[in-house]
Amino acid sequence: MTIKPVPSDVIQSLVSYRPAFGKNVSKSLIRLSANENGIGCSPHVREAIQNNEVDLYRYPAQQDEGLIHAIASRFRLHPAQILTGNGSDELIYLLCTAFLNPGDEAIHTQYGFLVFPQAIKIAGGVPIIAPDDDYTVSVDSIIAKLTPKTKLVFLANPNNPTGSMISESEISRLIELLPKSVVLVLDWAYSEYVTKGLSDAAKLVESSTNIVMLRTFSKLFGIAALRLGWGYFPPEIYAVLQSIRAPFSVNQLAALAGKVSMEDRAFQEESVAHNQFWMTEIVNRFNEMGVKILKGQANFMLLDFRDKNGPSASHIESRLLEHNIQLRNMTPYGLPDMLRMSIGTSNEMEEFTSCLKHIILQ
Ligand SMILES: Cc1ncc(COP(=O)(O)O)c(C=O)c1O
Repeated sequence: MTIKPVPSDVIQSLVSYRPAFGKNVSKSLIRLSANENGIGCSPHVREAIQNNEVDLYRYPAQQDEGLIHAIASRFRLHPAQILTGNGSDELIYLLCTAFLNPGDEAIHTQYGFLVFPQAIKIAGGVPIIAPDDDYTVSVDSIIAKLTPKTKLVFLANPNNPTGSMISESEISRLIELLPKSVVLVLDWAYSEYVTKGLSDAAKLVESSTNIVMLRTFSKLFGIAALRLGWGYFPPEIYAVLQSIRAPFSVNQLAALAGKVSMEDRAFQEESVAHNQFWMTEIVNRFNEMGVKILKGQANFMLLDFRDKNGPSASHIESRLLEHNIQLRNMTPYGLPDMLRMSIGTSNEMEEFTSCLKHIILQ
């Protein structure tokens, strides 16, 4: 028998979440599978990167003051409570590392972001699934899953991949019912796309000791490639996360791009308007084609192919791929009869709809 290093039991049992985006980002692919900003990023970001005078041989600041200031003034927040990370993914991992002893429980919702259970397991915790109610987060089922071992609750609103959103009153009810010893993670990754009805998570953070808000530059701000996220934390949680975060996880170009994109309000407004137009327009076109959907509140929606008399999700997925159009396969999320479609450019949406129509009518 050969003797070799063996990963921990937890790591060996892990079903790794690796989104299949391909090895290189191909320019010709119409990628409607990753919930990115369909129209790219602020043109000022490119200019700033091209004209930058970043000293590439220097380590970056641990927390870039210009970036923190730009976030704080855009959303009227306290700079000392903003912590940036290598994507909000990093902050999800840090929260699990910080709050879970082996065997502790962390609740996530049934059709929720797959990084949550992965980060919980890697930290040695036990992921507990709170069933959704009709593809929507259920506060009652989260509460029903609480035990003395619960340390964290993860909740994305709007939720990925269902796109559904729960109301301010439901969030308030959850907060009232949750013990103050449990950290409530409000993952507001898609919040900038929502124009009404979403709780002000920052205010909730400011009036609590156990609520945190996560945000990202990968969606509306359109700089997913650079990996930049941020969170808003009560001071004690901030201090814990700051003490374990990798010192240089946000690189200097990401910090520069983050600051510039945060300051470009015109591009943010253009992105929201483009998204709103296509989220409505595409539903009209789906209705005409007889394609069922779960209407999303963010920049994506689920296409529902559960009807056994119609085409299957895998048929549609593979036929679209023949035309270089990629939607997201939902099997890893437990939704094999659905496909997730993100909003792309207007040209991409035109091509996608005409192609889908062609496949369905065949
Ligand atoms: C709900 C949710 N949270 C967090 C993230 C991760 O964002 P980031 O790119 O900042 O790591 C995503 C990305 O898809 C997401 O859907």
